[in-house]
Amino acid sequence: MARIKKINHVAIAVTDIEQALVFWRDALGLDLHHVEDVPSQKSMVAFMPVGESEVELVKPTAEDTGVAKFIAERGGGIHHLCFEVDNIEEMITALKAKGIRLINEYPLELPGRKMAFIHPKSTGGVLVELYEVIA
Ligand code: CO
Repeated sequence: MARIKKINHVAIAVTDIEQALVFWRDALGLDLHHVEDVPSQKSMVAFMPVGESEVELVKPTAEDTGVAKFIAERGGGIHHLCFEVDNIEEMITALKAKGIRLINEYPLELPGRKMAFIHPKSTGGVLVELYEVIA
C-alpha cells in the first residue's frame, strides 16, 4: 500500500512573483531558494522552503494553462496541495479502486520526479498533486 510521506509543497498562483515576494519573503520572512522557469508547466516558480515542505509561488507564462485560468477566474490564491508519496503508481491504482477521479491516470515523468493530479471533483474542490522523487 502506497504511503504519503509529507506535504511536499503548497502552490500559490500569482500574477507577479516580485510583487508576491513583498509579502511571502519580505514581510513573512520565508527564504527564497530560487526562481525557476518550468517550461513543461508553462510557468515560473519561486521555491520557498518551509521545514520539510515548500511554498511555491507559480506564475503562468502562457494563457492556456490551468494556473492562468485559475487566476483569470479567481484572481490567484492557493492553487494546489502536493503530497509526496513513496510509490505514485500504487497510489493511483489504490485511488482508482476507490472510485477517485484523476486528472492524470498515469504519472507524468519529469527530471527527478513523477507527478499526477487528482481531480477536484473527487476531493471537495481541492486540487491535489501526488509527487514521487525518483533517482
Ligand atoms: Co505542484
